[in-house]
Amino acid sequence: MTMNNIEQIVSDALSKINSAAIAELEALKAEYLGKSGVITQILKSLSQYSIEEKKRIGAEANKAKSGIESALEKRFAALEKARVDEKLAKEKIDFSQAFYFPFAKGSLHPVMQAINDISRIFKALGFSVAEGPEIETDWYNFEALNIPASHPARDTQDTFYLDGMKNLLRTHTSPGQIHVMEKQKPPVKVIVPGRVYRNEASDASHSSIFHQVEGLAVDENITFADLKSTLASFVHQYFGSGLDIRFRPSHFQFTEPSAEMDMQCFFCKGKGCRVCKNSGWIETLGCGMVHPNVFRSVKYDPEKYTGFAFGMGLERITMLKYGIDDIRLFYENDLRFLKQF
Ligand code: DAH
Repeated sequence: MTMNNIEQIVSDALSKINSAAIAELEALKAEYLGKSGVITQILKSLSQYSIEEKKRIGAEANKAKSGIESALEKRFAALEKARVDEKLAKEKIDFSQAFYFPFAKGSLHPVMQAINDISRIFKALGFSVAEGPEIETDWYNFEALNIPASHPARDTQDTFYLDGMKNLLRTHTSPGQIHVMEKQKPPVKVIVPGRVYRNEASDASHSSIFHQVEGLAVDENITFADLKSTLASFVHQYFGSGLDIRFRPSHFQFTEPSAEMDMQCFFCKGKGCRVCKNSGWIETLGCGMVHPNVFRSVKYDPEKYTGFAFGMGLERITMLKYGIDDIRLFYENDLRFLKQF
C-alpha cells in the first residue's frame, strides 16, 4: 500500500462525494468507511506491515478517513441547505405585494350568504328575522317544546350541558320560537337562523357545530295548506321554479301532525341521479303544525290559535345547492374553498 494508492483513493472518494445526491451519501459512507469499506480494510490490514510502515500507512489512512468524513458532512450540509433554500423560495410571500392597495376583497362565508338569501326570501313572504341565545336553559330547548325530562326524544339531541346541567348549548333553533312567542302576541311570522351544537363526532355529514333556520307562523286559522304554500314558494325561489315538494309523516314533539318535506331533485328534475341517490327526491326539512302544548307553555290559547313551524339545516341545504360533499369544509377556512362563493 503506497501513499499514492491512498491519495488516489481519497481523490476518487472526494470527487464521487462532491457530485453525489443527498440520497447517495449513505452508500458512499459505507463504501469507504463502513465495516468492509475501503479505508477500514486498509486499517485492518496494518498488522502485515513493518512497524515503520504501520506508522506511515496508519497515519495516512486515518487522515484519509477524517478527510472523507468531513467531505461527507460538508456535502450533506450543502445539499440540505440548498433543499431548504429552494423550499423557502417557493413559499416566499412578498408582503409588499400581498398587502398592497387596493386590498384583496374578502367575501361572505357561504353559510352567511345562505342566511342572507333565505332571509330575503322569507322577508318577501312577510316573515321577520329574529335571533335567540346560543346558551339556553332546559326549559327553552326542551320543556317548552313539549320534550319532557327523560323523554327518549332528548337522546336524539346529544346535548352539550354547561354549569352542571343548569344551562346547555342549544341543540336546535326551535327554542327561538319560544322566545319570540313569549315576547309577542299573534299574529307571528318569523324565522330564526343561528348556530346550534350537538355533542357528536364529526364526519363528512356531521359536525358538532352547525346552523339551522327555524320558521314559525301563528294566527287564527293557519292551516297545513299555509305551510305547504310557504315552503313551496321558498323551494322555488331558492332551488328552482317548478320543483315539486312532497310531505311524509314524521314525528317531532313540538308539532302535531309532523312531516318531513322532500323536494324534487333540482339536479335531475326527479329523473334519478347521484345527488338524490336515484330516488328523484331530496329530504329537505322537518315541519308540522305547532303542538297545543307548545302554545300552552307560552300562554297562547290553543283553542284560538293554530300555527306551523319548520326547521332546516343550513349547511345541508347549502351542500345540496352547490354539490359540496363534506360539511367540514365550512369550518376549515381554506381560501381555495371559500373563494368559490
Ligand atoms: N328542531 C328540529 C331538529 O333540530 C327541526 C324541526 C323539525 C324544527 C320540525 C321545526 C319543526 O320547527 O316543525 O331536528
